[in-house]
Amino acid sequence: MLSSVSLVAIVFSAWELVENQLFRHVDYVTLHYLYITRGIASSLLLALWAAWYVLRQRRKSEEEIRLSREHYRRLLEASPGAVALYDPSLVVTEWNRTAELLYGFSKADVIGRRLPTVPPEREPELAEVLRRVQAGEPIAVVETVRRDAKGAQIEVQLSLLLFQEGSTQDRFLEVTEDIRERTRLRQTLIEIEKLTSMGRTAAGTAHHLNTPLATMLLRVQMMRERRHEEATAADLERLEGSLLFCQQFVSRLLDFTRRPEARKQPEDLGLTLESVMGFLAPSVTAHGARVAMDVRPVAGMKVLADKNLLEVLFTIVLGNALDAVPDGGRIEIRCARHGAETIVVEIADNGSGIAVADLPHLFEPFFTTKGPGKGTGLGLAIARSVVLEHGGTIGLQNASAGGAVASITLPIWQPGAAEAT
Ligand SMILES: Nc1ncnc2c1ncn2[C@@H]1O[C@H](COP(=O)(O)OP(=O)(O)OP(=O)(O)O)[C@@H](O)[C@H]1O
Ligand SMILES: [Mg+2]
Repeated sequence: MLSSVSLVAIVFSAWELVENQLFRHVDYVTLHYLYITRGIASSLLLALWAAWYVLRQRRKSEEEIRLSREHYRRLLEASPGAVALYDPSLVVTEWNRTAELLYGFSKADVIGRRLPTVPPEREPELAEVLRRVQAGEPIAVVETVRRDAKGAQIEVQLSLLLFQEGSTQDRFLEVTEDIRERTRLRQTLIEIEKLTSMGRTAAGTAHHLNTPLATMLLRVQMMRERRHEEATAADLERLEGSLLFCQQFVSRLLDFTRRPEARKQPEDLGLTLESVMGFLAPSVTAHGARVAMDVRPVAGMKVLADKNLLEVLFTIVLGNALDAVPDGGRIEIRCARHGAETIVVEIADNGSGIAVADLPHLFEPFFTTKGPGKGTGLGLAIARSVVLEHGGTIGLQNASAGGAVASITLPIWQPGAAEAT
């Protein structure tokens, strides 16, 4: 405002100066007109200046609004959560990039339409959450399920709040975050927790059983040596067999729960397999089975492993294959390299295969389909923990040609990588 006053003052004084110099001798009427002209001219000037000032202020605030909109948009886009803004009838007005990536719906697919990510069975749940925030809950957080453009279900954490903007209708701002990985980890933790507590109980029981079992076994063996009647000797032999199974069960249980820390060093996988095969040769012969093994594709490759544990792993899987094949059955051990980092060992048999209902339970401790006193059901559970300890994977499936195939992957040791742990 100060500048408008100074502007008028400048105009008036300049005018006064010109009048004093040039119109000193003019008559009264001319002077009168001169004054009027001066008034009009300065008012015009002032009006022009005011118009320019208003225009400039308007441009400035328009620019500020544009910048703040851009700022808000950038914040929206940079949000790591999927953001959607919608009205009470779920018609979407904002949809950020993360939402596009997570759900596979583009902005064009969604803006102006009803939120497409809520599965029908979850609508009552969302209605309840909307009601809660409308009733005054500052921010409602729930774990729920959404679906993407392909119809796949995604577990998400939903945070919802009421978004009020000027006089426009209330809208809801929802931020969803993909929690599939978190849910999977939580599930694994629960499983580990269950296994650990079961393991602790089992270890306690096994420990208590160990000594009386050994004593019983010794006594039965001594009695068998002393008794020569056939019936008694046969009974004692059966008893000895059962006790031996109990002893094996207990030692497996202890293996499972109290395995010593792995001592890893680079081991040649081919050599390990050959040594396991040498060890199992008598059982293979007893089963009348044939084993074909080709370790050439992985010759010279090493894995960072505890040799004893590797041997335990292959003994368990080969033992299962031997149990599954009929007399004269066939087992094939195939080795291959997958990419630069992984070795795959497949152990295929032409045995009975696995009932579909059993497939999800194979790696659970104590799961066995072998009769009482025959299988502990701990073999594959131990095998899995060994493989996991070595950064690998293990799977067991029915083979299309019949029988089952176990596949084990292990990371190839790269010279220069960390050695013994
Ligand atoms: N090669 C295979 N063919 C068919 N079934 C298999 C094969 N390997 C494993 N299984 C199934 O998986 C179950 C679990 O195997 P796991 O090695 O854990 O225990 P087990 O063999 O029954 O007992 P143990 O190992 O103490 O002798 C087996 O009882 C069997 O039903
Ligand atoms: Mg087994």
